[in-house]
Amino acid sequence: MYEFIPAVMREAAKLMLSAHDIEGAVTVKPGDANFVTAYDMAVEDYLFRELGERLPEAVIIGEEAEENHTELLRTRLALLIDPIDGTTNFIHNYRYSSISVGVCDRGTMVWGGVLNPYSGLLYHAERGRGAYLESPDGRETPIRVSPRPLSSALAGFGTSPYYREELGEKTFRAVYSLFRAARDVRRSGSAALDLAMVAAGSLDVFLEYRLSPWDIAAGSLLVTEAGGVITQTDGSPLTFERPCSVLAGNPACHAAALGMV
Ligand code: IPD
Ligand code: CA
Ligand code: CA
Repeated sequence: MYEFIPAVMREAAKLMLSAHDIEGAVTVKPGDANFVTAYDMAVEDYLFRELGERLPEAVIIGEEAEENHTELLRTRLALLIDPIDGTTNFIHNYRYSSISVGVCDRGTMVWGGVLNPYSGLLYHAERGRGAYLESPDGRETPIRVSPRPLSSALAGFGTSPYYREELGEKTFRAVYSLFRAARDVRRSGSAALDLAMVAAGSLDVFLEYRLSPWDIAAGSLLVTEAGGVITQTDGSPLTFERPCSVLAGNPACHAAALGMV
């Protein structure tokens, strides 16, 4: 039903790959180190236009939009879009960012896609149909969360950089606990890709104390369709109506980490 979305995402990725003079295209948003580039705006405009034409009944919620009506999520079909997840990486030409598109039907995620434009790898899932990795040549492979226990886990985390005064210390305390319990820790710079990596079994658990609906919409469905668990850090269900904390992992690692973060 949403098979047209990946092609639109791959077209949008070309805008990111064509980027030059990114530093010159940066403006600062309110909040700590919260940047946006002209490319974030261009990718979002493109996705809003192309997806909005194909799904005229959907409410579109995007990180760079002037207004977002998340209160409509419970009653409407909605698209949750992060045009560039990993803007700081993008500005630094770190080449690890993503485009994230989620489809939410009256509060339930039904489709999610996370595309890494640099590798051309697209992680996508449809409710009840599993999660898949599509390579640039169109080959599809089913993905699953890992079976690893926390003691041999690779634990991903995000720093909630826009709330560093409030959450920085708490984050690094929790990460230290995970670091001691697991094999090692990783911080990638794109929460959407972190969740995709949990779904693909490369990361075993992932933690971030505050993420926005567009960061986690698509990735949350990837995790659950791949057999994983995703909740807030206190174990309560995620919400897409406002920012919230996120703990995702394979069932064993999620359960073990719940008591530690
Ligand atoms: C950010 C990235 C980052 C996470 C931040 C997010 P943005 O999204 O996902 O990994 O740590 O909390 O805000 O601003 O690059 O779209
Ligand atoms: Ca984001
Ligand atoms: Ca973004």
